[in-house]
Amino acid sequence: MKPKVVISYGFRNEVIGQFKKRLSDIAEVIPLPEWMSSESLQEIRNAEVLVPLHEFVGEALLEHAPRLKAVSRFGVGYDRVDVEACTRRGVYVTYTPGILSHAVAELTLALMLCLSRRMMEADRYVRTKWAMNGKAMIPLGNDLQGKILGIIGLGRIGLEVARRARAFNMQVIYYDKLRRLEAEENLGVKYVSLKHLLKTSDFVSLHVPLTPETRHLISERELRMMKKTAYLINTSRGAVVDEKALCRALREGWIAGAGLDVFYEEPVPLDNPLLKMENVVLTPHMATHTVETRRLMVATVTEDIRRVLSGEPPLNLVPEQKGKKFHIQDKN
Ligand code: DGY
Repeated sequence: MKPKVVISYGFRNEVIGQFKKRLSDIAEVIPLPEWMSSESLQEIRNAEVLVPLHEFVGEALLEHAPRLKAVSRFGVGYDRVDVEACTRRGVYVTYTPGILSHAVAELTLALMLCLSRRMMEADRYVRTKWAMNGKAMIPLGNDLQGKILGIIGLGRIGLEVARRARAFNMQVIYYDKLRRLEAEENLGVKYVSLKHLLKTSDFVSLHVPLTPETRHLISERELRMMKKTAYLINTSRGAVVDEKALCRALREGWIAGAGLDVFYEEPVPLDNPLLKMENVVLTPHMATHTVETRRLMVATVTEDIRRVLSGEPPLNLVPEQKGKKFHIQDKN
């Protein structure tokens, strides 16, 4: 019998097809009907590899997966995988760093442009009013050129955002736990304190992983420090921002608007007040959703799965497991 690779119920059919094409010679790929239903738990019991999308993988699930050798995160964020619990059980945790940074950076710039050039209002205007009014009556937008972009978290994705923003002739400042001297030299980005960044930026863009330290990194105090004309862009994780405080900030005009790809609760419930606001642009956690990037993600994930199933350590281990080699043969 071939080993079982169990994948999230959330994947699109074309991605499921790519998983099957890349693995079917050595494994059986099983898309789950749902997460944690009794039928799914039956599949998980026999799984050697699990590929979650945004579902939580913790002790409760691992207990049902005695044969598991790897949890292969389809993405770069692994805040919903309990790495410690996996490590205790000798389960590898892999992810897909690097290959998706450009896609997230492109969406970040797209959100900035949508807000600064009022693209959403412009689109609605053309569809409903332009023919009657004759003039383009939507308020003027703003240039990106000359504006200050404050990047919080200048890692792989933050850097790609900085590169693109520099191409738009923006000034880029950043705050991070670590100074990035090479980027300062090569890209002309400037390190500042978080407070300085919030007080001076025209756009504040978040590129940190969700950890206990970054949860609610942006809450009322930080939002109140931002300029009234500034925009907040979040393509990282919803919980990095205190969403209730953000709603107040948007409603009461502490900031001008926000571009959000990630939310506290996903999918966003229909009664979330953000859905009624005009000064926000919202996208459904789709920063990596391009044909090219998703293909690369499948290739990266499946390459590591092939390695694990043939007894080799995977290439893209999460940092907490770097250098670890588990005796995965024992689980057969
Ligand atoms: C990531 O890479 O973590 C994105 O959120 C897509 O899963």
